[in-house]
Amino acid sequence: MNLLDLTEKWTDVRGHLPLLYAIARFLPVRLGLEIGVRDGNSTLAILMGLAAQETPDGLLISVDPEPCENAVARAQEHGLRALWNFRRQTSAQFSIDLSQEAQRRSFDLLFIDGSHDHADVLNDWLLWGPLVRKDGFILFHDTVTYDGPRRVVEEHIPQQRNLFEVCTLPYDHGLTIVRKKCDYWWYQSPGCPIPTEKP
Ligand SMILES: C[S@@+](CC[C@H](N)C(=O)[O-])C[C@H]1O[C@@H](n2cnc3c(N)ncnc32)[C@H](O)[C@@H]1O
Repeated sequence: MNLLDLTEKWTDVRGHLPLLYAIARFLPVRLGLEIGVRDGNSTLAILMGLAAQETPDGLLISVDPEPCENAVARAQEHGLRALWNFRRQTSAQFSIDLSQEAQRRSFDLLFIDGSHDHADVLNDWLLWGPLVRKDGFILFHDTVTYDGPRRVVEEHIPQQRNLFEVCTLPYDHGLTIVRKKCDYWWYQSPGCPIPTEKP
């Protein structure tokens, strides 16, 4: 399977798959986190990018509370399973697991496409955004069509150009791209307490 095959069929994220592939391949992504898998369209694009790297030793961790059998079968069928750690749990549950590991990790890519509920998206941003490295990317899908992701991007990403670069691609439900220009950051989001220590 190549990228053309993947984008042939209509899906709500189709227009963004080439970008996911290119970021995974050329950043390059050593460790990525994807929130929301469903049938694995974004998953496969990222995995194909990881597989195409000069030294394909990257890993994608994906979380989804559903079994996502179709995505698992597709990854298997296309020989991408070794690059993929699928966890059947919510992003919040995964964060508890990760916090119990001795070594917290830093991500190159965070793709947020799970629950569209405002509180959940905000939680994803606050939990995982700080763990993305400097010059890494955070991508939010559905920031044009859905209120939850749109409000998080509008209300909670500080408009500080020294910390973030932000741009929204307005098609296919909207994809907001955030490039981090700092390693770790904490800020007071409206209504949220300031975490007291670095991860
Ligand atoms: C819009 S679909 C993801 C689409 C997928 N990225 C693609 O490219 O087709 C949203 C998925 O998020 C999952 N989901 C819902 N709440 C979640 C949560 N709290 N944490 C992780 N995934 C969640 C759903 O089960 C669903 O499979």
